[in-house]
Amino acid sequence: AMPNRVKIVEVGPRDGLQNEKVLVPADTKVELIRRLAAAGLRSIEATSFVSPKWVPQMGDNAEVLGRVLAGSASGVDYPVLTPNLKGFEAALAAGAREVAVFGAASESFSQKNINCSIAESLARFRPVTEAAQAAGVRVRGYVSCVVGCPYEGEIDPVKVAEVAETLISMGCYEVSLGDTIGSGNPTSVQRMLEAVMKRVAVARLAGHYHDTYGMAVANIHASLQMGVAVFDASIGGLGGCPYAAGASGNVATEDVVWLLHGMGIETGVDLDGLVDIAAWISAQLGREPASRVARAVLAK
Ligand code: HMG
Ligand code: MG
Repeated sequence: AMPNRVKIVEVGPRDGLQNEKVLVPADTKVELIRRLAAAGLRSIEATSFVSPKWVPQMGDNAEVLGRVLAGSASGVDYPVLTPNLKGFEAALAAGAREVAVFGAASESFSQKNINCSIAESLARFRPVTEAAQAAGVRVRGYVSCVVGCPYEGEIDPVKVAEVAETLISMGCYEVSLGDTIGSGNPTSVQRMLEAVMKRVAVARLAGHYHDTYGMAVANIHASLQMGVAVFDASIGGLGGCPYAAGASGNVATEDVVWLLHGMGIETGVDLDGLVDIAAWISAQLGREPASRVARAVLAK
């Protein structure tokens, strides 16, 4: 059944900014995260503890997370990506209370993104989830390429279900299903969800849909109909993935909130506040806000 309340996980500061060519100053990142919390977002992915050789844009991870936590409002979670134990230890030292491990349902994407096979990645996540449990840190899991892969094309939903189930069995409280290249449509997304829901309860699933072909809002609607009640989104539609050529940003947070509020579904997030933030961060990056909702609201 359709949820009457949805949780939005804001991923703009990480998924959005990781793909910017020009280094965004830490001050701007911290201010962006502060504004997002003030607009009512209660889970904001702040940065990633990955190799700065691979993703230079996230090289200021410890500074950004430390400053965000020092000034944070209570009741807001600031998850960070940790691909391995080295990343987890750095995140913990910076004060992280929630981390995310990120795997894939495609072997080629796993190799390009994190330089190992799917099986090797899962073996690296296990010590992370164990160390996190010992430290009282929550762990979220991601599966990338849940419908399509930039290198392999269509992905078997059964593979997605297997990886998602393994992440849950390791102790992830939720698995976010990534349509990394935005190639999904309501039919392929529902087919994928059907397979995953045979192995993982829908209450533990989130949708993470990139909007490359403009289908993300339709895919969210299709997922809502199957009971998914958590969606990742990126303010202003910022972003992409450095290891998925041609992938554009996540669905814009303001587009998702417009859809949900219009359908009478609560989010706890202030739409006008989001539109102001989308305009502000886009100006910082030297462009106009890309999302349809931001442009429409600002034109009024
Ligand atoms: P590797 O080269 O295989 O790692 O990279 P390694 O263990 O062989 O170590 C090599 C060097 O990296 C060593 O340093 C390590 O210390 C260092 P050196 O001795 O050469 O000086 N190193 C690290 N440094 C900092 N933090 C770490 C870390 N680990 C090792 N955590 C690794 C493996 C995973 C580190 C690398 O491939 C990497 O950082 N990849 C980046 C992946 C990434 O950030 N991708 C984008 C995010 S995922 C995404 O966007 C998808 C998502 O949004 C969902 C969706 O849309 O589908 C989540
Ligand atoms: Mg993503």
